[in-house]
Amino acid sequence: MALPLFLVDCSHFSLLFDRIGGEDNNPMSIIQRRHFLMGSLAASTLAAGPKLRAQSANSKLNTGFIGVGNRGSYVMKGVMTLPGVQISAVCDIKPDRLDAAATAARTHNPKTYTDWRELLIHPDLDVVFINTPCDTHVEMSLSAMDAHKHIYCEKPVAITGDSVGWLYGAAKKYDKVFTVGQQMRSYEDFQKSIQWVHDGNLGEIVMVRAQRHAAQDLNPEGSSADWFFYNWRSGDVLVEMSVHNLDVCNWVIGAYPTRAAGVGGNLIYKDVPPGRNTMDGYSLDYEYANGVKMNYSQVFFHPASMPNGGQYFNVYGEKGAVELMTGTFYPHGREAKPVKLAEGIKKDDVAHQRRFYECIRNGGPNPADARVGCSGALTAIMGRDAIYQKRLVTWKEYSVNIDPA
Ligand SMILES: NC(=O)c1ccc[n+]([C@@H]2O[C@H](COP(=O)([O-])OP(=O)(O)OC[C@H]3O[C@@H](n4cnc5c(N)ncnc54)[C@H](O)[C@@H]3O)[C@@H](O)[C@H]2O)c1
Repeated sequence: MALPLFLVDCSHFSLLFDRIGGEDNNPMSIIQRRHFLMGSLAASTLAAGPKLRAQSANSKLNTGFIGVGNRGSYVMKGVMTLPGVQISAVCDIKPDRLDAAATAARTHNPKTYTDWRELLIHPDLDVVFINTPCDTHVEMSLSAMDAHKHIYCEKPVAITGDSVGWLYGAAKKYDKVFTVGQQMRSYEDFQKSIQWVHDGNLGEIVMVRAQRHAAQDLNPEGSSADWFFYNWRSGDVLVEMSVHNLDVCNWVIGAYPTRAAGVGGNLIYKDVPPGRNTMDGYSLDYEYANGVKMNYSQVFFHPASMPNGGQYFNVYGEKGAVELMTGTFYPHGREAKPVKLAEGIKKDDVAHQRRFYECIRNGGPNPADARVGCSGALTAIMGRDAIYQKRLVTWKEYSVNIDPA
């Protein structure tokens, strides 16, 4: 009998190293992409078997966590506060993290695994959370589809254009819930302000200016330093972090970018940690299919004492501008007073996961489906590629046919 595909050691897939990027003598321009040839994997996924048993409103959803580092353990603790969730299995390759997660979830008595493929065959598992480094998301998601689980995959769904396409193709045909950890989609304040903009109150949107400015770099000795600073694992900070912000821009603009250009690099924290090839500062310009222009910057050296740091989204339209983080409308005119559209970001750390479980139980809406995850990732990837390759990069180059925003 053939083994289910997710049990097969993926090391047998041919590993293909290729380069995207421009000049060979510029390490920042190179990202080595690890692809596994997944024709059979995708085919198997698309031919997924019958649905799991239907979930009644009262039955517990058996949930497994793959990767219980910073994010995975945080999300797991949040999920444990939701009704009807049983943490049945946890997996990590680092024993200390596995122990810490098993301890945190001890009231649920989860089984521990060090091999994520074994977790996928844990008896009666309904739901899988994938919280491992970014380069593992596609392989694990496709295998979890093959195992026919509801999936919550951390962002970014993928870090190369090709693999965005593979995942999107499989997810579109998947008959269970696939949600991406782009939780800004579940910020009620964003929903209110963006709906207000989409209702036409700002007139036509013409430009968006957004940023994510931090006062310091990520900790080079931190527990995620073994993958975060290496672009072949994280996709670079632009893909790893800014996928959130770029997705919000796509959301409010109501379209995807057609082209991108930008500049950036490893400007201040050079070679810290050693061998690092991720950026610490960059600026990007995008043009959208509906004509909207967007400018976005991310830096890790905006002094804390200097004004205008942090994150914001200025959405400019014919009638004024909206800032999404504060939920405020600024009408044109010297005497015009700001108008509050929403209260500003409220902390509800489990809103996105709660909506994911509601989607499983009640059939929708999906808080961030494959379209949201894949279009966000591709927006970030094209920006990164534009900076690395020092050229104008177009959406069409990726040949990924994502449904309209
Ligand atoms: N949605 C958000 O706001 C948010 C915030 C932070 C991180 N993230 C995402 O979550 C993911 C994890 O980030 P993190 O900060 O928790 O990193 P982390 O390094 O703290 O945790 C990753 C964990 O995955 C484990 N792991 C790695 N390979 C594994 C494998 N093959 N099998 C099982 N476990 C494996 C590691 O041992 C580690 O414990 C990343 O994709 C990151 O982008 C999302």
